[in-house]
Amino acid sequence: MIIHGGAPLRGTVRISGSKNATLPIMMASLLTAEPLKLRNVPRLRDVETSLGLLRGLGASAEWTGEHEVTLQAANITSHDAPYELVKTMRASFCVLGPLLARTGRARVSTPGGCAIGARPVNLHIAGMRALGARIQIRHGYVEAHVDHKLEGGRIWLDNPSVGATENIMMAAVLAHGHTTIENAAREPEVQELARALTAMGAHIRGSGTHVIEIEGGQKLHGAEHEIIADRIEAGSIMAAAAITGGEVEIPNAPTHQLEAVIVKLREAGVYVQANGDGVMVAREGKIKPVELRTLPYPGFPTDLQAQMMAVLTQAHGTSVITETIFENRFMHALELMRMGADILMKGPTAVVRGPAKLLGAPVMATDLRASMSLIVAALGAENTTEISRVYHLDRGYEALDKKLAALGAQIERVKEEV
Ligand code: EPZ
Repeated sequence: MIIHGGAPLRGTVRISGSKNATLPIMMASLLTAEPLKLRNVPRLRDVETSLGLLRGLGASAEWTGEHEVTLQAANITSHDAPYELVKTMRASFCVLGPLLARTGRARVSTPGGCAIGARPVNLHIAGMRALGARIQIRHGYVEAHVDHKLEGGRIWLDNPSVGATENIMMAAVLAHGHTTIENAAREPEVQELARALTAMGAHIRGSGTHVIEIEGGQKLHGAEHEIIADRIEAGSIMAAAAITGGEVEIPNAPTHQLEAVIVKLREAGVYVQANGDGVMVAREGKIKPVELRTLPYPGFPTDLQAQMMAVLTQAHGTSVITETIFENRFMHALELMRMGADILMKGPTAVVRGPAKLLGAPVMATDLRASMSLIVAALGAENTTEISRVYHLDRGYEALDKKLAALGAQIERVKEEV
């Protein structure tokens, strides 16, 4: 991706459906033999990977419209989620709960390490055990069995893991009896999965709070569900507008899910007008330094930390960013420094001194949100930045280069050497 920085972004852009809501809901299609139709599905590499994963398990999984997929697991013919898939997309691990609940067994590869932190799956496994599954880890795979049927149970999560909450919810809806998940994740994507499962006939209370109650054992049926807009894509474009100045309107931004982000952008001197389901972001004056700490929802999302760091390289003063969710999520800082950013890292904290003169440089994306952080920085930099390994970006942002170009960014995708 080649970006000529400096052009203020102006105009209106609509964001796509939420990646992190879509992926687990796709896995939920394994819970019934009837079709699940999803609308507002983003065209992303991770969605294609999930379609492939479902097909590999024997389901039919097809695009039935520009942003619509229809999934039907009439027969499940395999119980295996292979390493080749899980290592490319950790969200694949979320087939464990639905496969186990529907068929009584599952063999899912453990995901292994990750560019942003260790990301173990111990809480997913403890949750399945609490529902009565027998689990062994052999040859890098989680092998899970149930003798009869999963039984409801009481689960307390050591930390409010999004993926573990989702995986356990999907297992518990078919388990016999009542399940309580305490210290559950409250992220909007968890709430969205609960809504989809409810549309399929599940009985779930308390999603969006720390205690989720599930009355399991209902036979689930087919449903239609529309995916919510992607709060992280909205926040990323808001960061791009903040660094370049100008004025950008996002008429379908889920503003009520972005409160922590809006508060921090305003503290940084950015004008944010949020009304109902839309947001307008503008900046004329200087960017001010802020302190921020990533936290589980409704705190500041870790998935926007990298993009905000890029913005804060331009603040007039010293900002302090603390990452509390993942232990290695500052890889973008090293690339930002190659562009001229002044960042000091000490454990989970990054001290960002600004304003630094950002100059275009060849830089390399290390993960999805790191790629976006480099794009934000490049849009605010002088002259030309060349970002390689943009395939990370295509995992989670739909047509981002086209959306930014429509706002006046000088951005061009060129073929990348492999
Ligand atoms: C989800 O990952 C998102 N992915 C991530 O988005 C997001 O960064 C993360 O939640 C936090 O909001 C999807 O929804 C597909 P976690 P997930 O389990 O579920 C620890 C992006 O860029 N943990 O809430 O994997 C873990 O190591 C991605 O779109 C355990 O210790 O995150 C981490 O420190 C990246 N044991 C913390 O919990 C476990 O069994 C939170 O992770 C599970 C997690």
